[in-house]
Amino acid sequence: MSEPLLSLSGVNTYYGESHILHDLGFDLRKGEVVGILGRNGVGKTTTLQSILGIPAPRSGEIRFRGETISGLPTHDIVSRGVGWVPQGHRIFPTLTVVENIELAAARSRPGSWTAERIYEAFPRLHTRRDARGGSLSGGEQQMLAIARALVQNPELFLMDEPSEGLSPLIVQEIGALIKRLNAEGNTILLVEQNLAFALSISHRILIMAKGAIVYSGKPDDIRDDPDITHRFLGVGTAAAD
Ligand SMILES: Nc1ncnc2c1ncn2[C@@H]1O[C@H](COP(=O)(O)OP(=O)(O)OP(=O)(O)O)[C@@H](O)[C@H]1O
Ligand SMILES: [Mg+2]
Repeated sequence: MSEPLLSLSGVNTYYGESHILHDLGFDLRKGEVVGILGRNGVGKTTTLQSILGIPAPRSGEIRFRGETISGLPTHDIVSRGVGWVPQGHRIFPTLTVVENIELAAARSRPGSWTAERIYEAFPRLHTRRDARGGSLSGGEQQMLAIARALVQNPELFLMDEPSEGLSPLIVQEIGALIKRLNAEGNTILLVEQNLAFALSISHRILIMAKGAIVYSGKPDDIRDDPDITHRFLGVGTAAAD
């Protein structure tokens, strides 16, 4: 089989003296949607940020498209095709929708997504194009955050809790958008706390605890065995550990 699109092996990441990721390893194949689940503070965001080199792992290796990227500066990693949709749908609140997208597009790789195509795909962003980022609804901000990554034409999307803080209807919309991006050939690594949402859009699920992967399986395996979510996520049981 060909080399995975992304692979992490033996990754150890620290914040100062705090050891957060412990020999973390997993692979992602081109075209996959993989969901990382785990409780608060287990290192999900740190995993995505380690891929981007903020902070870079202290040891271990991260490979992307057959090349080692661990140790490279973040702008170099991004320019190789890693798209970043940060937690809390971070955008520039004082800039308009158009300005937010233009700023991202200025650093874009060649590809099929242009600002014009973005507005076709996100009619709501087009309607709100002159509004400031901070005045958008949570759902609109999340769409803008995804649009900012998309216009850079990445090969891999890192999405950090895209459903966080959004109403069920908007979560459905974001899910449909992620499925569509995947149907167009995009590979997506998704961090989530919303179990049902992650199961509905992922091909494969990784569960993290204390900075390491403790479970890997298909959404159906997890649906068929509620004990997995009890044990690793504490879902459905008051006294889970
Ligand atoms: N900038 C930082 N400096 C020091 N410690 C940090 C920093 N960012 C995160 N941490 C710590 O690292 C650990 C992992 O944090 P991380 O944000 O990766 O967790 P998470 O799984 O994404 O959690 P959440 O579900 O709350 O988003 C936590 O103990 C957190 O307090
Ligand atoms: Mg996080």
